[in-house]
Amino acid sequence: MGKITIAIDGYSSTGKSTIAKQLAKALDYVYIDTGAMYRAVTLYALQNKFIAEHSNDTDAIVESLSKINLEFAYNDRLGYSEMYLNGVNVEKEIRTLEVSKYVSRIAEIKEVREMLVGMQREMGEAKGVVMDGRDIGTVVFPNAELKVFMTASPEKRAYRRYKELLEKGEEVTYEEILKNVALRDRIDSSREFSPLRKADGAITFDNSDMGLQEQFERLHNYAKRVI
Ligand code: C5P
Repeated sequence: MGKITIAIDGYSSTGKSTIAKQLAKALDYVYIDTGAMYRAVTLYALQNKFIAEHSNDTDAIVESLSKINLEFAYNDRLGYSEMYLNGVNVEKEIRTLEVSKYVSRIAEIKEVREMLVGMQREMGEAKGVVMDGRDIGTVVFPNAELKVFMTASPEKRAYRRYKELLEKGEEVTYEEILKNVALRDRIDSSREFSPLRKADGAITFDNSDMGLQEQFERLHNYAKRVI
């Protein structure tokens, strides 16, 4: 078999992107972080005050979609692609807790999903991709040759995210991260359009007690078996 499509879905902060990036590099595939796309739309909505703590201006968000240009540009130095929103590198801004707090609400909007799913299908058309997200194996590429559903306990996930944000210099508490992880799980799993669920034929991968190297080796082996 030639190049395949690898779909990695799962709960937030399961370390999907770290492992997906590593896998893409080992296979010489393209890595696509679909969460970054939802995050960039959220950043745009925040910048334009279309979303706030107790309100969403869904109409304004939907109307503005035609003005949003999203692009991934490969950064040679880092060895992965970075997200550009209307020509500006927003890699740092989209990873803040502020964006994490609102992103699941933006991801509930049908029109947002339709636009991003369309872009994702185009990006993955030629295969040879590792795409991570919440609906890749269920909606974007239901025929992906390898589907993985990643999970870990909410406490482990929150702790990993907490450490990551502290290292980046954000002032956050473990409790607020745990709350955010639980909230996103709930919204992502119960939304009307493309809720997060395990795709048919997906391998469940619980990495609560697994180091990075072990995760990589296991997934790499799954991929090699299919390719
Ligand atoms: O993967 P990441 O945590 O960066 O994703 C941020 C949010 O974007 C998720 O909590 C989810 O609400 C949304 N998302 C989605 N579908 C995807 C990828 C992300 O709804 N394919």
